[in-house]
Amino acid sequence: MIKIAPSILAADFACLREQIRRVEAAGADIIHCDVMDGHFVPNLTFGPLVINAARRSTSLPVEVHLMIAQPERYISAFRQAGADRMIVHAETCPHLHRVVHQVKETGAGVGVALNPATSLTTVEEILPDIDVLLLMTVNPGFGGQTFIQAVTEKIRRARQKLSTLRQEILIEVDGGIDQNTVATVVEAGAQLLVAGSAIFGAADPGQACIALRQQAEAEFMRTMFSAHA
Ligand code: DX5
Ligand code: ZN
Repeated sequence: MIKIAPSILAADFACLREQIRRVEAAGADIIHCDVMDGHFVPNLTFGPLVINAARRSTSLPVEVHLMIAQPERYISAFRQAGADRMIVHAETCPHLHRVVHQVKETGAGVGVALNPATSLTTVEEILPDIDVLLLMTVNPGFGGQTFIQAVTEKIRRARQKLSTLRQEILIEVDGGIDQNTVATVVEAGAQLLVAGSAIFGAADPGQACIALRQQAEAEFMRTMFSAHA
């Protein structure tokens, strides 16, 4: 089934706990937290302190998307802050195998993210070691950007590739996911959908989360049905 991960990047940080509780009450699956360093990506956001605030605001899993150079320096700090899963960018890790295993050794789940222009072949050798493959559908750094349509084919190729493996790896998409793009990514094979502006930018984030899930699940059922017809 489809999982929805609201990104707090678009939330009101003056009342973060209340915002997180609204999406939790609406059935969100995971809280997605975007850590940016002003170096790997142009924007700056937050570090372990805010992850810990999110952790204490919810019983949902907290996922930390590390858009930072040298993520290996901060893995243990984010784990101590309460991260249940950490996602590192292949572009920031020349020693990706080492970093993936560093995350696993903390007991957290691990994902690898790829920018839109980074080939799937970059992660081919590490797939057996990861839980999540995050395909960026915008260039990372900011919320509210336009979905890059060309990534759809990459999602489809990732789905084909992963279906030949024994273990289950979730395909996650992040960036520009909203009511206009959700069907496209689900049809292509995405299972875990990150949404910032589409949820926290809405007047009622809970309702927006419910609506996005309904749309995603309807498309998922349609795709399953047509595949078996
Ligand atoms: C972008 C971040 C995203 C961001 C998505 O670099 O990784 O998680 O919050 O925001 P929207 O859904 O507004 O595109
Ligand atoms: Zn993200």
